[in-house]
Amino acid sequence: MKHIIITGHSKGLGAGIATELINENHHIHGISRTDSVEIERLAILKNCKFNFYSCDVSRRDTISAVMDDIFYTISGSETPEAIYLINNAGVITPIGPLQTLDPEEIDKHLRINLLAPTLFIREFIRHTTDMNIEKRIINISSGAAVNPYHGMSVYCIGKAGLDMLTRSVALEQKDEEYPVEVISVAPGIIDTDMQTRMRAEPEENFKNKQKFVTLKESGQLVSPDVAGRKLIEVLFSEDFENGAVLDIRELYYK
Ligand SMILES: NC(=O)c1ccc[n+]([C@@H]2O[C@H](COP(=O)([O-])OP(=O)(O)OC[C@H]3O[C@@H](n4cnc5c(N)ncnc54)[C@H](OP(=O)(O)O)[C@@H]3O)[C@@H](O)[C@H]2O)c1
Repeated sequence: MKHIIITGHSKGLGAGIATELINENHHIHGISRTDSVEIERLAILKNCKFNFYSCDVSRRDTISAVMDDIFYTISGSETPEAIYLINNAGVITPIGPLQTLDPEEIDKHLRINLLAPTLFIREFIRHTTDMNIEKRIINISSGAAVNPYHGMSVYCIGKAGLDMLTRSVALEQKDEEYPVEVISVAPGIIDTDMQTRMRAEPEENFKNKQKFVTLKESGQLVSPDVAGRKLIEVLFSEDFENGAVLDIRELYYK
């Protein structure tokens, strides 16, 4: 049995990834504030083990408790063949020039987009150190990690930090006896609530707004299921390269 832990599985890209992973050989552990009825139903239909963990990842104290729960479940089942973590949960707000943003919102954003993945990885490594099985992590990054966007400084630094977290953890893990492998993947521009939120922003907060409106209107956004399928190919790939920072568009959409 392969165990896959995925944050933000309830909608958008996370739901696309979870949907594509649902089969009888997988045990999926979904972490979000809300569950997805569709995913629960599909899991039952396809005889896939699925557990929902209600968790607000902006709350630092909940993360170790959720990971303890997950690994308690894993330890109670047959010896796992592999364990994966997909750090996908994320937010786009607050959007606007830095001086206009509320410090509380900046703090919450970075707790969700950067601190939470850091703590999930910490817990993942601690729980799996002695396991001689395949152990992989994908951090869902963004083109915004390398390209600055007006009005998105907080999102950009969170994703840039996530990429550096990938490279730092990969370096620390490579000489371990049973290393965890970690990569970052920018998934492309996907048709989710996050994109809707960006298009709703006033132009003075987000000068690139029109570009994203045009992409939507010209049908250039990728569906969450298609993006999810590509990410799963990467997750299970024989070419999975510890520490790599990838853009899925360079792999598949050339
Ligand atoms: N959409 C794009 O074009 C795009 C492009 C590049 C990168 N990305 C990245 O892809 C990832 C998914 O984005 P998306 O577009 O799918 O966004 P989305 O549709 O808004 O979904 C976000 C997911 O994260 C979860 N989440 C948000 N805040 C949370 C919290 N405090 N605690 C627990 N879960 C939380 C949500 O679940 P609940 O609301 O149920 O908690 C939801 O499942 C993000 O990391 C994003 O930065 C997206």
